[in-house]
Amino acid sequence: MSLGRTWSVVLTGLVGDIVEVEADLSNQIPGFSIIGLADKALGEAQQRVHNACANSDLALPRRHVTVNLSPANLPKRGSALDVAVAIAAVATEAPLDRESLAETVHLGELGLDGRLRPVSGILPAVLAAARAGFRRVIVPHGNLAEAALVEGIEVRGAVSLRDVARAHGLDVPDVETEPVAGPGDVETDEVATPDLADVIGQRDAVEALIVAAAGGHHLLMSGPPGAGKTMLAKRLPALLPDLDDETALQVASIRSLAGLPVTTLRRRPPFEAPHHTASAVALVGGGSRILQPGAIARASGGVLFLDEAGEFSGHALDALRQPLESGRIEIHRVGFRAVLPARFQLVVATNPCPCGNYGVPGGACSCPSLAIRRYLGRLSGPLIDRIDIELGLQRVSATQSVVAGMSTDEARERVSGARDRARHRLSDTPWRTNSEVEGTWLRSGPLRPEPSITRPLDDALHRGSLTLRGYDRVLRVAWTLADLGGRGHPNAADIGGALYLKRGASPR
Ligand SMILES: Nc1ncnc2c1ncn2[C@@H]1O[C@H](COP(=O)(O)OP(=O)(O)OP(=O)(O)O)[C@@H](O)[C@H]1O
Ligand SMILES: [Mg+2]
Repeated sequence: MSLGRTWSVVLTGLVGDIVEVEADLSNQIPGFSIIGLADKALGEAQQRVHNACANSDLALPRRHVTVNLSPANLPKRGSALDVAVAIAAVATEAPLDRESLAETVHLGELGLDGRLRPVSGILPAVLAAARAGFRRVIVPHGNLAEAALVEGIEVRGAVSLRDVARAHGLDVPDVETEPVAGPGDVETDEVATPDLADVIGQRDAVEALIVAAAGGHHLLMSGPPGAGKTMLAKRLPALLPDLDDETALQVASIRSLAGLPVTTLRRRPPFEAPHHTASAVALVGGGSRILQPGAIARASGGVLFLDEAGEFSGHALDALRQPLESGRIEIHRVGFRAVLPARFQLVVATNPCPCGNYGVPGGACSCPSLAIRRYLGRLSGPLIDRIDIELGLQRVSATQSVVAGMSTDEARERVSGARDRARHRLSDTPWRTNSEVEGTWLRSGPLRPEPSITRPLDDALHRGSLTLRGYDRVLRVAWTLADLGGRGHPNAADIGGALYLKRGASPR
């Protein structure tokens, strides 16, 4: 019996496809070839497998080994197939337990010394293996903690190719080997989030932050340098509720794909704050063989914060269109197209003009008017259209400083109460938060507000001082205000409050 057969997984974005790896011997000139749409990294696997086997005392047959990867029409990328290729090739002659090989998925790259090197995307790959019903997966030791987050499949870590061979019953000596370290055994970036109570004064802004958190509304903050925009934005994630199972797994999978350490299933929403010099690729994602998710996908399930938004390039801001519209981001690369989730809450902070002093009491703005218009104009269009709350901030004055602020715990309590009410009300709809609800449903659905309550809006619409889109935005926020106040319906004050939160500094 000269056929070696086992399994691995190829990832396209977060989608894992099972790949069958078969090795066979033939009487050609001794050599090694991989067929089945393999990319360059996989072509190099021949050499890695050859050396890794030689250095592990697992001699490859002195004949021609052909490795076939199927399904043949699925492009195979990256180096995570190395281990499966090697073990299938070894199994052509060595007495490995074939049944065990056939029920195991192998993931990992090989070093020339025969050690298994951790790869990115282990979590989504193991999930795919578990969903496909495999009994066991063998991963590089450095990826073990991450792989073990998946339930319903036996997960084993291997330090070297020898370990893998031994797992399938081959009698090879157990040589003590130092494992190759993973992407980091501790998740160092779980820093304590700052408390809302640190914010002095700024009652309107804090309230707006709570409304944004409660309704999942995108938020724009405009104000002079030092007004506390960045300070407030950083306090938003702590107000949001914990992630549910599915979202937590999705967030962890994206981290895994990005090569970030994943050792626990984090429940707190992610916070991504790309620098304003970030390129469109840094936001969207790139990478040629294995997809590197950008900031937009990494923010999915949490908050995407664009600080100094007026300084971002037009290209970078354009990249936000699709995810804001569809909650997903499509990434096109040569030979493949991947879709990643990108459902985030957007927080945009900007100065009122390039120098930051435009409209500031006592401030002298030195910017030409064209520059001011261009600065804010960059943010207009699709971006501003999606933002429900536009907040104008001023610097705090000394007299305000004596007012004690609200703590993050208190605020989160209010947010969670409001979210529960919204979820309950929207239980028969595809939406969960007020920000997602469609305009038509708000205006003419079963819960449309009384005309007497929406009169100021209807008048403004009639006069042309409010667009229909603006109208919907006000209704959405009014519902959130009602939820926060424990009211079953928005009242006139809620509409007024929502109008106030919309006034902002938008060019329109
Ligand atoms: N309301 C406030 N309460 C407490 N501290 C504040 C407040 N506003 C500003 N500060 C202090 O000022 C610092 C600067 O604030 P922050 O960086 O948030 O301003 P900004 O509006 O983002 O300014 P820029 O436009 O320059 O980015 C904060 O780190 C904080 O220490
Ligand atoms: Mg700032």
